[in-house]
Amino acid sequence: MSQESIQHINHAISPKTHTSMYLMHKYWARKPHNVVAEYIKHYSKEGEIVLDPFVGSGVTAIEALKHGRKTVAIDLDPMATFITRMTILPVNLREFKKQFTKIKNRVKQKIHSLYETICPNCRKTAIASAFIWKGSKPTLVRYTCSCSKGTQWKEVDDADLRKIKDVEETVIRFWYPTNELVWNTRVNVHKGDKVSDLFTKRNLIALSRIHHEIEGIEEILKRNLNEEFALVDVKNEKGKVIGQKWWVKGVKFLDRVPLSERVEAITMNILNREIKVSFDDVLRQIYLKFTNALTPDTQSVKEVLEEYAGKTRDGKWRLKPKIRQRENEHDSIVEMLANLGKKAGVRVYADIEGWRRLPKFDLPDENLERIREIDVVWYDDGEITHEFEVENTTGITEAIVRGSNIPSTKTKRYIVVPEERYEFFYRKISEPMLKEKVEEYGWQFMFYDALKIFYEKNRRKKEVGLSEFEKIPQKPRLPKKTFETLEHFTK
Ligand SMILES: C[S@@+](CC[C@H](N)C(=O)[O-])C[C@H]1O[C@@H](n2cnc3c(N)ncnc32)[C@H](O)[C@@H]1O
Repeated sequence: MSQESIQHINHAISPKTHTSMYLMHKYWARKPHNVVAEYIKHYSKEGEIVLDPFVGSGVTAIEALKHGRKTVAIDLDPMATFITRMTILPVNLREFKKQFTKIKNRVKQKIHSLYETICPNCRKTAIASAFIWKGSKPTLVRYTCSCSKGTQWKEVDDADLRKIKDVEETVIRFWYPTNELVWNTRVNVHKGDKVSDLFTKRNLIALSRIHHEIEGIEEILKRNLNEEFALVDVKNEKGKVIGQKWWVKGVKFLDRVPLSERVEAITMNILNREIKVSFDDVLRQIYLKFTNALTPDTQSVKEVLEEYAGKTRDGKWRLKPKIRQRENEHDSIVEMLANLGKKAGVRVYADIEGWRRLPKFDLPDENLERIREIDVVWYDDGEITHEFEVENTTGITEAIVRGSNIPSTKTKRYIVVPEERYEFFYRKISEPMLKEKVEEYGWQFMFYDALKIFYEKNRRKKEVGLSEFEKIPQKPRLPKKTFETLEHFTK
């Protein structure tokens, strides 16, 4: 923002109370979120970077992200950066709720039994939420009971004292922290005081049980192994496997498709969905999807837009008509390939209505699941003979990686692309990661228009020879100049 254009905020902004997100953890001198938000909105534009070198519990960083800015957050205190990171981290709320309910159901009864007290009004068992102590003696109990609304107070009775005594004699079964606190008499921490000294025995029993159940989530992961989660190898920098980690299943190629391509796919979705869209709108939607370290820089988003879209008079972006036309052609190309397979006397699976029957090849279910996502598969005698991926824009990496689910090196593999996109795709497959796979599996390019001409020629014929069909694919030579640029590009 240019200095001259700034009209400074010259009035007070009344602070609002913190929302529950900010109350997850206590932090000192936390600033009111709405005031911070007003300043961010006033002094920066969407897509710009907000820096807070003393971020504390993260109010500035969180508000910056909430309002479409990027953020750099620094703090001397690792607890501060931990709280900030944990508050920002995206959470699958449905899964979180599911696990929370499971844990709650497991511990609720046991924890409640520690805090039971007798309601003096109805004589039924109620649950205590606080005890007031005078020195070493408990005097008052705060509790809730179904016989009355809200919280109630009562004096400590004999049953309460017995309960406290029982608890004192209980051995804590599960782990709890016993590390020594930093000696600081200013905050009443004396030499030898431990983290556990901050809690009553009763609270320690309850908290250590909750902690134990949370840790037990790993058990849940194990039970769901190969259903919802998978164990994947973790490699060190030299590529040596050093262990395994959990990974959510069905998150397709999150670890294999490059970020740039995923950004491209999201941008295409936006362009397909909306007639025209502003750069800021695209950025906002992308930032919401790619948070933290994954956030791409604005330049790479701009490059994607330039590749696929044109500028309208009012400065917005609209999908190029040619690209839209090619997008619309996708399913008819798939259908042509399905029909041609039939004419060639092979059996066909295609990912379009009416062609989705896939036999159980001698392959693991996991592979079959991925094979179902391939556009067209031709097969004969239980062997997949040809696979086709019809690609207009993005997704080439995913298509090629997906192809490895057909392990046979005899399968002929084609990427069917619009002619005008060849150079772009060629550039992609020249990237080292893909190049290896393209060569290993012998992928070939086939062009939309060449295929359409062939199809038209053979439309009325009942049969088409496989060898004739296989003459269609060509790999046209790129002009020398382009090759040079490409080599330069891939280095
Ligand atoms: C008042 S708190 C910030 C609170 C924050 N504005 C919020 O709303 O949550 C100040 C923070 O500055 C951090 N701090 C102090 N000296 C620092 C230094 N030299 N470098 C980085 N952080 C520092 C402290 O650890 C503390 O978290």
